[in-house]
Amino acid sequence: MPTIRECLHKVAGRFDAARLDQPNMLARSLVAHTVGRAREWVLAHDEEELMSSQIAQLEGYVTRIMAHEPLAYVVRQRAFYGMNLFVDDRVLIPRPETELLVELVCEKTARLAGLAGGQPIHILEIGTGSGAAIIAIARELPHVNVLATDISANALEVAQLNAANQGVAHRLVLVRSNLLEDLEQLVLDQVTILIANLPYIAPAEIAALQTEIVNHEPHVALDGGGTDGLELIRTLLSQIKLRCSNGRLRGVYLEHGALQGSAALAAARVVFSDTVLRTVKDLAGLDRVLAIEF
Ligand SMILES: C[S@@+](CC[C@H](N)C(=O)[O-])C[C@H]1O[C@@H](n2cnc3c(N)ncnc32)[C@H](O)[C@@H]1O
Repeated sequence: MPTIRECLHKVAGRFDAARLDQPNMLARSLVAHTVGRAREWVLAHDEEELMSSQIAQLEGYVTRIMAHEPLAYVVRQRAFYGMNLFVDDRVLIPRPETELLVELVCEKTARLAGLAGGQPIHILEIGTGSGAAIIAIARELPHVNVLATDISANALEVAQLNAANQGVAHRLVLVRSNLLEDLEQLVLDQVTILIANLPYIAPAEIAALQTEIVNHEPHVALDGGGTDGLELIRTLLSQIKLRCSNGRLRGVYLEHGALQGSAALAAARVVFSDTVLRTVKDLAGLDRVLAIEF
């Protein structure tokens, strides 16, 4: 039977010949997943042989990667904010940029705790997908109340599974809703901080995305609507203004594309003309989050 080293060499060679990015990393991740070990273990034990059932399994994974399926879907996991989340093609693969939403909520909550004198804090996420951001928030902030929605029942199943795996299922309420439409007014009246990483790609630009994205990630998680991809965000802003205006709401943080900073600010200015608005940059120095603070 071939050793781990031989498999790594062969698989990486096939990925390289197919001009896939990072062929060695891909090969190492697939072999590690096949043998149920960490990537570091694989490198340290490359004399070990694979069993024939493992060779067949590995071949299946390689075929999927060659067909441009994202690695995260093949190995059914993605790291986010120090957690290992389950993902499959029911949800967008969480991106590292979205960790900024978690950080902004943690900072705002710390400021509010100083001011609000022990008032309970309610955090609402719209369009939670795998649950990445709200689950990270629930883990970081054990005393806040957390509620998340998605329009996709499939996505909510994945979020539920991740909440259970991360030990916060008893605290996280998940609701199917089109933006704020299906949420009770009583619930919205309590919200202190609202976050969302809604789809923000312009419909006309979707076809030009990487094959891994356009052929495998759910289009309901990509298509932001309108001509500029910001239609869902605009609709959400109007709904927030209309339904979350009793003075409890203290912060809104909406993720957007790196080139959409000024357009998102302009959209917010139309609705929240007398409010402090800013664009927050991500670690790469790119415009990433529209912040509205009250
Ligand atoms: C870009 S993905 C982000 C998922 C997750 N928040 C993350 O950061 O990984 C957008 C999510 O919004 C959901 N969505 C799309 N349209 C929606 C709508 N009208 N109301 C609520 N959720 C929506 C999608 O199903 C998808 O899960």
